[in-house]
Amino acid sequence: MNVLLIGGGGREHALAWKIAQSPKLGKFFAVPGSPGIADFAACVENISITDNAALVAFAADNAIDLAVIGPEAPLVNGLVDALNDAGIKAFGCNKDAAQIEGSKIFAKRLMKKYGIPTADFEVFDTPDAAKDYIRTKGVPIVVKADGLAAGKGVIVAQTLEEALTAVDEMKTFGAAGSKIVVEEFMDGEEASVLALTDGDKILPLIAAQDHKRALDGDKGLNTGGMGAYAPAPVVDDKIAAQVEEKILKPTIAALKAEGIIYRGCLYAGLMIVDGVAKVVEFNCRFGDPETQVVLPLLESDLLELMTACAAGDLGDKKLSWRDGSAVCVIMASGGYPKAYKKNLPIDGVTKAKSLGAMIFHAGTKLVGNELVTNGGRVLGITATAPTLREAVDKAYRCVDVIHFDDVHFRRDIAVKGTGTRN
Ligand code: AMP
Ligand code: GLY
Repeated sequence: MNVLLIGGGGREHALAWKIAQSPKLGKFFAVPGSPGIADFAACVENISITDNAALVAFAADNAIDLAVIGPEAPLVNGLVDALNDAGIKAFGCNKDAAQIEGSKIFAKRLMKKYGIPTADFEVFDTPDAAKDYIRTKGVPIVVKADGLAAGKGVIVAQTLEEALTAVDEMKTFGAAGSKIVVEEFMDGEEASVLALTDGDKILPLIAAQDHKRALDGDKGLNTGGMGAYAPAPVVDDKIAAQVEEKILKPTIAALKAEGIIYRGCLYAGLMIVDGVAKVVEFNCRFGDPETQVVLPLLESDLLELMTACAAGDLGDKKLSWRDGSAVCVIMASGGYPKAYKKNLPIDGVTKAKSLGAMIFHAGTKLVGNELVTNGGRVLGITATAPTLREAVDKAYRCVDVIHFDDVHFRRDIAVKGTGTRN
């Protein structure tokens, strides 16, 4: 099978690494790919991932059997619809289905209508109306932009002043901030459960825990994710069954009832409050960095599973998992998620690999033969081991030999899982 992977972040590097292990893989291309993905696929940098016509033409010219779409933007932009219209199969959901991530209001209204557990919320067209509501509700409270804002359009406000300022800041998210969602604050522990689906059946992957805040102790601004580990013990068998029966299956069924067939990966961001899982958000794609810890533990052939999802027929496929745990520590540019420098030389990657880590490239590029920083999140250092403690130690041993100026990473990835400081 010839495969085209869309995207070039750490998640796509992990997808490429896993897809490349399939005996079914023929030719493998990536747009735009990355210096890491180039180990597995031919990278094509001169096509934009939101140029549907050019991507369809590339897929047709290269006899692509399956396109795998990593990031949300092309999904929200209707790439899967365009590929399917041209007779090309794709792993990823269509444009209508992608609203589950593309519009928080769509997702919240769907959950409310179909009784899927989530925080109470209200939607406002004007900052003043949102502020009046916040004053009556009090804090803590959560203020969100409606559309895509790269994981940054959410403010969890602890004081009234913060909440009111957050409302004003929503303007900076452009169209995404034109409607404002104000949500009840849920106090619990977060986890991410991703599921493969053919539009009818679902196969949940093992649960992961992301670390969204920039700083240790869950302090600082929300980011795309500063590290992850799997399996996440907070999702025990009871919670996992609850997530499957009360969240994932009902959501796929709710979408179907609305005339939307969801095929691809459905990501449920959860808050576990007193033994009950509630949805914080849905994403219409694999998580980043969750994918970098879940896929290294997956034994099954991912390409085969994705092909079955795209065909709408998972049949009786099951997933098999390796024993042990995986940890991913994100090495980010100093300043992220705000402004940061680029083009800083990265040292130590070869040494880190020799210590047993997988190095997933999130924001790097090659200048001549030199690897340099090229994004907020730069590298994801993933280690697997029989226990979570060993995986954490191995990951940080590798992190400690990699260097670039202004590097920033969290020291407490997976502390919630190990119960002890790193
Ligand atoms: P989202 O982009 O909706 O996932 O929100 C980003 C992050 O903000 C989440 O991962 C949570 O850490 C936090 N968050 C969002 N909504 C809530 C909520 N209702 N209660 C508590 N924390 C929240
Ligand atoms: N790790 C959060 C996300 O993928 O949105």
